[in-house]
Amino acid sequence: MNTDTAPLMLQPDRNLAMELVRATEAAAIRAWPFIGRGDKNAADGAAVDAMRKFLGTVNFDGVIVIGEGEKDKAPMLFNGEKVGNGRGPACDIAVDPIDGTSLTAAGRQNAISVIAVSDRGSMLDASSVFYMDKIVCGPEGHGVLDLDRPIGDNIRALAKAKGKPVGEITVAVLDRPRHAKLIEEIRASGAGTRLMLDGDVAGGINAARYETRIDLCAGIGGSPEGITTACAIKALGGFMQARLAPGTDQEIQRAKDAGLDLEKVMTVDDMVRGDNTFFVATGVTDGGLVDGVRRKGPIIRTESIVLRSRSGTIRRVVAEHLVEKWLD
Ligand code: FBP
Repeated sequence: MNTDTAPLMLQPDRNLAMELVRATEAAAIRAWPFIGRGDKNAADGAAVDAMRKFLGTVNFDGVIVIGEGEKDKAPMLFNGEKVGNGRGPACDIAVDPIDGTSLTAAGRQNAISVIAVSDRGSMLDASSVFYMDKIVCGPEGHGVLDLDRPIGDNIRALAKAKGKPVGEITVAVLDRPRHAKLIEEIRASGAGTRLMLDGDVAGGINAARYETRIDLCAGIGGSPEGITTACAIKALGGFMQARLAPGTDQEIQRAKDAGLDLEKVMTVDDMVRGDNTFFVATGVTDGGLVDGVRRKGPIIRTESIVLRSRSGTIRRVVAEHLVEKWLD
């Protein structure tokens, strides 16, 4: 379907975002007992199960483009799986029941549960390549940053565009050996780093939001997380570029077979077309983006953010759930 001419009635509308929040809340609540228990697969399994059940009740006809993996390896929320009750708008959906499974298992900060949605046929299926090189920041980056330029040049250009000294720029980077040179170059430019243990979706969003301490998120992270981030960046009016970063010959071949361009510096529009994206995230553990799940007596408290590209609004949804309703 040509999504530009799809009748409005068939496109995801604002109500969908609030329905999707119920699914990320459910995933976060079900993952909560596993926080700090050292078993990331158990945490992820509980979140996947809960998200899938709630998605089944949502009024839409969703196809998972970014999911838990190929059908034979992922029993639920696999790429290509149909979700929703099939009665509403036709959508592409990216799910990450927990971004930060290791963070959750270790009881560390910044794990979130995420869903992004766009019109059917508009989300890039980059599942054949595990990693992507990304650069993400707020609206000041448009026409100023370029993934192909040295990071020091990008930092200086961003500082100028933001009207602040380079010494006040903070760059979020996943703390990985592959980023040793990148981190060295960031510090050599005079900027500071915020090294993330995991979770570059939240890192990218925080770089694009006003009033955070992060100005830029850079480096190689998951491709699925990159596409999900692009949905949020579209809603935030931020800047993002990415290039697929295959690690093996098999990945290169798979990408070619899938028709993916490995040289291309992709913009947000290359990753998700159209202007009708939704992004929802609920905190699993506490973090800079949202608070994690908390239990206070008979209440479980969740905090979520809801982003919608059509309106450009960021909503925070704090919900209090009755513990007794969540007992198995
Ligand atoms: P999971 O929770 O799925 O393990 O992903 C966490 C994460 O840190 C992502 O946010 C990031 O994009 C990716 O892993 C980076 O991969 P790697 O840990 O292999 O560097």
